Parts: sequence; structure tokens; C-alpha cells
Amino acid sequence: MCGIVGYVGFRPVLPVILDGLKKLEYRGYDSAGIVLFGQDLSIVKKQGKIARLEQELAGMQLEGQMGIGHTRWATHGVPSDENAHPHLDCSGRLALVHNGIIENYLELKTDLLESGHHFRSETDTEVIVHLVEEKLKTRPSLLEAVLAAAADLHGSFALAIASQQYPGRIVAVRRESPLVLGLGQGENFLASDIPALLPYTKDIVILSNNQVAELTREAVRVFSMDGQELQPEPVRIDWDARLAEKGGFEHFMLKEIHEQPQVIKDTLVGHIDLVNQQILLPELPDEILSKIRQISITACGTAFHAGICGKTWIEEWAGVPVEVEIASEFRYRQRPFLPDSLAVVISQSGETADTLAALRRFKEMGMPVFAITNTFGSSVTRESDWVLTTKAGPEIAVASTKAYSTQILSLLLLALRLAQIKGSQPPERLQEITRELQRLPLLCDQVLQLESRVQEYAYRLRTLDDYFILGRGLDYATSLEGALKLKEISYVHCEAYAAGELKHGPLALITAGKQVCLLATQNELLAKVASNLKEVKARGAEVLVLAGTNGSVGLEGDEIWQLPATFDLFSPLLAIIPLQLFAYYMAKEKGCDIDQPRNLAKSVTVE
Ligand code: F6R
Repeated sequence: MCGIVGYVGFRPVLPVILDGLKKLEYRGYDSAGIVLFGQDLSIVKKQGKIARLEQELAGMQLEGQMGIGHTRWATHGVPSDENAHPHLDCSGRLALVHNGIIENYLELKTDLLESGHHFRSETDTEVIVHLVEEKLKTRPSLLEAVLAAAADLHGSFALAIASQQYPGRIVAVRRESPLVLGLGQGENFLASDIPALLPYTKDIVILSNNQVAELTREAVRVFSMDGQELQPEPVRIDWDARLAEKGGFEHFMLKEIHEQPQVIKDTLVGHIDLVNQQILLPELPDEILSKIRQISITACGTAFHAGICGKTWIEEWAGVPVEVEIASEFRYRQRPFLPDSLAVVISQSGETADTLAALRRFKEMGMPVFAITNTFGSSVTRESDWVLTTKAGPEIAVASTKAYSTQILSLLLLALRLAQIKGSQPPERLQEITRELQRLPLLCDQVLQLESRVQEYAYRLRTLDDYFILGRGLDYATSLEGALKLKEISYVHCEAYAAGELKHGPLALITAGKQVCLLATQNELLAKVASNLKEVKARGAEVLVLAGTNGSVGLEGDEIWQLPATFDLFSPLLAIIPLQLFAYYMAKEKGCDIDQPRNLAKSVTVE
């Protein structure tokens, strides 16, 4: 999705803007542009990567103490230099960037054309800059013109607007699409996401929906849409700026895969009573947990897969029935709920449009909502009743890895805490599990030792274009997530199947030489998995077995990767790591753009 950066202050503005845009590259984009305000207004925009924009800028003498930058993810109009942001008004003195979609842009455009405005692009965004230009004819300030224009817009938008006529002043607006402000001394910043601001400040104001901000060097003022001044509470972000750097790894994705032992450790902090070896879940009151009779989980993509894993844990350990539904389906469907149901939404970004819409539907139905998210201050955090913030830290690679691990760990904590409260498991058993849980970071470290074998396997399979991942029970959830990783970054077609489903159709696709991965981490299901292995081997498939505690007992894989011994219920946290690594190395073999795969955005803030 689009990224926005704005700066007003004493530093050379261009490096601040370009550096910020690079920090937002992970969001996915197809073009980039900047506008600087000095003696003159300078605007440069280019289709393609930021490197192309930099090439264009090389040798130009641009100056100014204020600027705005943008990375565009095309929605209305093809990726091109003309459609890239910023967009200018007819006078060429007012510039604007936008993230989101303006639903009523055609009506507005018709009116603006009739009033004599001249359009240069095919975007929905350009109507906003002309609309602000129109409002400025009768409003005394940029802020008031922007407020008046925002009142006419339908849809989702984060905007940054500045004008040569109002030097040293940027106006920013947030409706649905995220926007944060960074507070400095004699300088202030704005951006779509916090990592763009971390090198300069850790004092952040997270704009809420329907808020407008005015930034000058000296001050940041925030207003409601009706112009009332508000007193927002800044938050201090404890993320280290280095977390948003590659730290010696070739790609963010590889770095983030390797951070999993640490983020699991961080997420466990505060969730274990070491004296009594019990799970703590301070984020969700015990009175609520004890009443729950049904849980409904909704999320998108990787977070949805986390939900499937959570369902298995919660049903098996706490005996509470769980429904898991894709947010984009749930939001348009009628679904009955039992009294005392709890809604759980899962979202790394906390800004996914479909997940937010699902959350709002739950609230309309009167259901309390528990959120699992990685982004403090996001819309999901602000609209939910209770929030567990995962401690994955900034996840920059578009493909989610460490955020997934912390999401499933959070669901496991929920399952075990529910089991404790409801008395559905013997206390000694739960204590044993709690003790073993603390070994998880170490076990993840051990799994990472498989890396060179995974790399060799990816090299051997480098011409792969079709792959199958099979699993039963908890392994089924892992297979779904493993398949998504392979598809999204290496573009290899991959099907995940509940292994028992194979004979109901997809077995037709298993022919000599097909590559299959079979997850076999659940001892109770080992005999069943062994017959699935025979089924595919009999048809000539080559099989990689990802084996759990009992190893490859009875399983004749062509390649076997052994996970460290632990309780079977922890396998989703371990088995996903080699599958993430496999997707990574396969994408590398194929020369793909690993951190920014095609057609995929980090934070999907439009429907
Ligand atoms: C895949 C991936 C996406 C996201 C999905 C939901 O690697 O990252 O499938 O999981 O777009 O995003 P969040 O969790 O931010 O709501």
C-alpha cells in the first residue's frame, strides 16, 4: 500500500524524505515521488523503484526546509510518472499525496471539471488537490480548506498537503488509512508507519480516525474534523531503530526468520508465573475467560492461518468451540452466535481493511472483541475491548514470519489460560507444559540449524514450479502457512492439503517426480500420515518428511528433516521455520524480489 513521509525542520529535507520512503518500501509500491518547498516548489516523480527516483534526482540542486514524499501502490490509473504522487493543483503551488481510495471521485471530478479545473492524471487522488484549491478560494487558511475538502470525500484516506502560499506548514488528515506524527525539537515529521521516523524520534502521536494535524517546525496541532483542537497523548516507542535495519542479513525476511527465538522469548515475558508454573494472560480478564462458551476468530492471510492453529489448540485444550473465518467473508455474511461468545481478531498491522470491518461487525452484534496485534496504537488496538500486543517488533519484509510465530504463541497462551480457568486439564499437566514452553526459544534456535540442509534442498529443487504440503491436525495449519510463504515470495504454485483429503480428488495431481512435503509432527496421527506417505510414494512422488519427536519411525521419506524433541502441541512454532526458510531459499534461487514480492502489500488498508 502507499507510503507517505513528510518533514518540516532544519535538516536537509531530501535525505529525510528519501530515507523515510525507503523504510516504507516494505509496504509495496510501483512508483515514488517527492515535492520540496523552498524558494521554488520542486517536484520529481518516477514510475518504478525509489532507486529510479534517486537517479532522476542525482545532480539536481534541490533545496527547502519542508517536503513530502510518497510511494504509490496503483489503484486508479496504471503505474506511470503522471499517476505517481505528489499531485499539484492548477496553480502548481499546492501539492498533495494520498494513501487510500476516494469512492466518490467521479462525481467530484465532474464538478471540478465544470468549474474549470485541469487534470493531469487518471488517479482518484488528483480530485482532492483540486478540491482543496477550490475551498481555498473561500477559506482563510490551508487547514480550513483541507477540513472543508475532507468533509466532501467518501472513502479511506491519509493525506499530506502543503502549499507555497503557506510556507513551513504541512496539513495531514487521517480517515481509515494510517498516519503517525513524529515529534522533534525544531522539526516535526509525519509518516504512514513508525519505522520511517525511528532514526529521528521515538515520540510519536498516532493520529486517530477523522483527525487532522497541522505541522510546523515549532509545533504539531491536532484537530477533529469539525475543527476543535484536541490534546493527543504522544507515546514513546521503545523499538530500536536498528530493528528496522537488515543487521548483516541479505534480506529482512531472513533476518526476521532468525529473530523468532528472541520474539518468542519477548512475547512470553509477563505471561508465565514462574513460581506456580502457570500461564498468565493479564490482557483478558478472568471473569470474561470463565464465561466464554464459544470463540469466533477472524483475520486475513497469514493471520487467518494463525487462527486455524489457535482453533485446534483451544478446542483440544480448553474444550471451547471455535469458528475461524476469513475476514473478507465474515464481513458480508449473517452468522448466529451463542450468548457469551468472544470475538478474536488477529492482525499484524492492525490496519487491514477487511479485518477492521469484521471487528466492527462483531461490535455491532454486541460481541466483545479481543485483539492480537503487533502494532500498538493501530485501529485494531483502539477499537477492541482487550488487546494482546505481540512483541515481534517491526516486521519489514512483506511476507510475515516472526509476526506469525508470535500470533500463534499468543493463541496458545489463550488456549492454556482458558484450560486453567475452566479446569479442563489436570493442573500438573498444564504445569509441565508451562515449564516446557520456556524452552521454546532454545528449540527454535535448534530448528534454525536446519538452514544449510534447507538451502541445499532448495538448490536441488530450483526448477520447481509445483509443490504440495500435506499435514493433519496442527500440521494442517502449518501446511497452509508454509504453502502461502512459498507462493507469495517464490511464485511457485503450491497446494496445502489436509493429508486425509488427498484421496478425495487432489491425488490425481500426484504423478512421478512430483515434489511433496509431508508434516509428521503429531504422534497420535503418525499411522495415518504413514499411509498418506505410501499413497504419494506409490504414484512416484518424491517426499520430504518434516518429522517430530518420534522422528521418521515408519516413514520412508526421500529427505527427512528432524525437529527437536518436545511436546507435539508446540510443533506449529517449530515446523513453520524450515518451511519459511524453504520459501526464502527457493525465492533466492529464482531471483525473486524477496522482501517486496510482486502484487503484495504489507498492510492492506483497502478492501
Ligand atoms: C502473508 C501476509 C499477509 C497478511 C495479511 C493480513 O505473508 O503477510 O497474508 O498476513 O494481509 O495482514 P495483517 O496481519 O496485517 O492484518
